[in-house]
Formats: sequence, C-alpha cells, structure tokens
Amino acid sequence: MTANFRSDNETPVATAIMDAIVEANQGTAWAYAEDDWSNRLNQAFSELFRTDATVIPVSTGTVANAIALATVTPPWGSVFCHSGAHIQNDECGAPEFFGNGKRLVPVDGEHAKLTPAALKRAVRAVEGHGIHSYKPTALSLTQATEGGTVYSIEEVRALCDSAHTMDLVTHMDGARFGNAIASLGCHPAEVTVEAGIDMLSFGASKNGCMAAEALVFFNQPSLRETAERLRKRSGHLLSKMRYISAQLLAYIEDDRWLEMARHANFQAARFASAVKEHSEASLQFPVQANEVFVQWTKAGFDHLESQGIQFLLWPGRDDLARFVFGHSTSDEDTRLLVTALAR
Ligand SMILES: Cc1ncc(COP(=O)(O)O)c(C=O)c1O
Repeated sequence: MTANFRSDNETPVATAIMDAIVEANQGTAWAYAEDDWSNRLNQAFSELFRTDATVIPVSTGTVANAIALATVTPPWGSVFCHSGAHIQNDECGAPEFFGNGKRLVPVDGEHAKLTPAALKRAVRAVEGHGIHSYKPTALSLTQATEGGTVYSIEEVRALCDSAHTMDLVTHMDGARFGNAIASLGCHPAEVTVEAGIDMLSFGASKNGCMAAEALVFFNQPSLRETAERLRKRSGHLLSKMRYISAQLLAYIEDDRWLEMARHANFQAARFASAVKEHSEASLQFPVQANEVFVQWTKAGFDHLESQGIQFLLWPGRDDLARFVFGHSTSDEDTRLLVTALAR
C-alpha cells in the first residue's frame, strides 16, 4: 500500500471539474478566450469577490504571478516578497524575465510570513539612492504561505496599508487560496480586495482543476489590455481557452473549491495532531492549511518511506520533510501515514 503526500500538484482532476470540461466539449466555440465560458468569468468573479473583477485565465500559477507583477512594475521597479516565496525561489526567474529587468527583493519573516515592519525596513533600505535605486513598486505575499501558514485578515490589511502608504501595488499569490479561505472561514473578499489586495493569482490546479488559474485584478479594468498583451506575447493565450474557463466557473460554483480545500485541510490537521503527540517528530510551522512540515530524524523518514509513504524531503535536508494533503487524499491515506508515524 502506498500513499502520496508529495504535492497537491499530483492529485487528479476532480470529477465535477472533468464533467465541466466534457460539457464544454460540444461543438465549436470562439477561440482565444472569446468563448461563452471566458466571457462569463468577470461576472462570476465579481460576484465571488463582491467587487469589479477583471479576470485573465491562464494555465499556470507561475505565469499568473509573472503577468500580474509585470503589468504593474516597470523594468526599473522592485517587488518585495518573502525570502521563501515561490516567485523568489521556484519560478526560474519568470517574474524578472517578464519584467524586463525588474528585481525581486526577498524579505525574511517568521513562519513564512511578512510583517509591515520588515517590509518597511526593506523598502527604506533599497530606495535610498533616488534615481540610482530600483523603484519600490509592488508587494507580493502568498496566501496560504509556502510554509503552510495563513495570514489573518488583520495581517493582510496591515501589510496592504503599509504597502499603499509607500506607493506599492499589492499582489497575492493564491496558489492555495482555497485552502487559506477554508482555514480562515471568512468571505474571500475580506482577505483580498477588502483588505487592500489589488491583484490575486487565484490558484485552482492544486485543488481539483487541470492547468486552470485565474489572474484577477480588483477594480482596475484598465490593466486588462497590458495583461492580455503579456499573456499573448508569452504564448499563454490558449486558442481553446474554453476548457480553462469552464473549469474555473465549475470550480467556484456552489462553493466546490471550498469544499475540496476543507477536505484537504482536515486531513492535514489529522496528521498534524499525530505529529504533535509524537515523542521525536515535531512541526516546523503551525499547520493552518494543507501542508505539514515535519522535523524528524533521517531514520524516521526512512521508516516512513519503507511503509509506502511518499513525501518530499526538503532540498538539502534529511531532517525536514513536507507532506501535502489534497482534495483526493482519502481517510485511508492519512490513516496509513499516521500509523506509519507511530511505529
Ligand atoms: C506558492 C506557489 N505559488 C505559485 C505556484 C505556481 O505553480 P505552477 O506554475 O507550477 O502552476 C506554486 C506551485 O507549486 C506555489 O506553490
């Protein structure tokens, strides 16, 4: 028996999403995001976020982030993010590539989170030389974070207030946005547009979709053209966009996205409780979404592997591993993991 906790990218497409793809697969439809499904996205996301939303469907989170940041940042601009951010470490420089030379400025913070004080210090440190410096332009924060923690509404609001005071545009990398909302139990608008977020990379692929992500601009329809040009120029304007847009509509319909995320978070919490009770293993971060980072011995992790448990050892470490729970993680998968941990 094996159970896979390597990544939520390795989960299958949810049945309801696959059904939506099949339903969209009837007859012809206008190409290049001019189909009926794509045309409904602005309205659907405006309702979801109870504000004016401009939606650019894309197929990866990397490109959603890169287009968002390139849309608002000049080549001489800088974007502030956590030092563990996906845009900083895991996108092969895509934000800088799309930004024609713009720079990411990594900022440290406990539990994979930024604070207004750290942000302010970092901005002050780089802007000191006027025209000679990169121009601080944007803040990007990840929700849920790369450490599996979740910013509260108050934390997001404080960061956005601080960013706006310094004339920074605010971006949220929501590759696991569903898991964050399921964890907070709040309205999705409360921790985004109503807290001061200007742009959101709304992830869906990790939580039941197939190559479907949405870049969402809040109350800034004029940014659409630049974002659309960047999408086309980078080869990301899919001719058959209907299949992406149909997924996004089905994903947010009837709170399907939250139901799947709640399930993933619940399974993660079960494992986290077992780790807390363990005499040797421990949690690296508070577990607030669907990722669990465990510190343990190499022998301990070897034992889990021998029991058919698949997970990722953190690069360069044999005493730290990541376990990710998804919409398809079964009770039995988690039971296998908890049992293997106990022996
Ligand atoms: C925090 C975060 N942001 C963005 C992404 C975007 O990923 P991709 O380009 O693989 O869709 C990921 C994927 O692992 C992620 O974990």
